[in-house]
Amino acid sequence: IADIQENIDHELISHDEIMAKIEEVAVQASKDYEGRVPLVIAVLKGAVNTLTAFTQAMSCPLEMDFMSISSYGKSMSSTGTITIRQDLSADVKGRDVLIVEDIVDSGYTLNWLVQELKDRGAASVEIFALLEKPARHVVDVDVKYKGFEIPDEFVVGFGLDCDEQYRNLDCIAVLKPEVYEGALTQ
Ligand code: PRP
Ligand code: MN
Ligand code: MG
Repeated sequence: IADIQENIDHELISHDEIMAKIEEVAVQASKDYEGRVPLVIAVLKGAVNTLTAFTQAMSCPLEMDFMSISSYGKSMSSTGTITIRQDLSADVKGRDVLIVEDIVDSGYTLNWLVQELKDRGAASVEIFALLEKPARHVVDVDVKYKGFEIPDEFVVGFGLDCDEQYRNLDCIAVLKPEVYEGALTQ
C-alpha cells in the first residue's frame, strides 16, 4: 500500500503527547546533569527520533554519540543475542553516559549495553526510555527517566519499525494485524 497511514489500526500516543513527555524528562535530566557534560548515546536505529527531540529540549551542555545494536535479528521477538552493527566513536571511560532508547521490551538490549558501558569504564550510566512494555520484561533494567508504559501491542513510529519501515511516523501507532503478521521484525 502506497500510504503508510492506511496500514495503521489506531494511534496510541500522539506526537504532541510524545513531545510534551520528552520535554518534561529533558528538563529533569538537565537539572540532574547540571555542572557535568553528559555523553548522550542513541541506540540506533530506534532511538534516533527520541534522541533528536530529547537533546533539543535539554539545556545543559552535552555531547552525542551513536551505537547501532540489534537484538531481534530476523525474528518477531528478542533473542537475547546482541549484535553491534556500528560502535561508538567516543571513549566512554570516566564519562557520565545517558543512554536514549525508544523501547524496553525484554530488556536484553539495555541490560547488555549498560554492562558493556560499565565494562568500558563509564563513570555513570543512566537510561531514558521513551516506551516500556512491562508485560514483556525478561531481565531487569533500571530506567531512571521514563516515558510511557504501553500494553503488549505491536507498535511502530517515532523510530520504531516493522521490518525497517514506519520509523518516520511522528506518533506511536498500532499496525493492522494483517500488516505485522506478514513482517519479520519489530
Ligand atoms: C528494538 C528497540 C530496542 C530493542 C528493545 O531494536 O529499538 O532497541 O529492540 O528490545 P529488547 O528490550 O527486547 O532488547 P531492534 O533490535 O529492533 O533494532 P532497531 O532499533 O534498529 O530497530
Ligand atoms: Mn533498537
Ligand atoms: Mg527494530
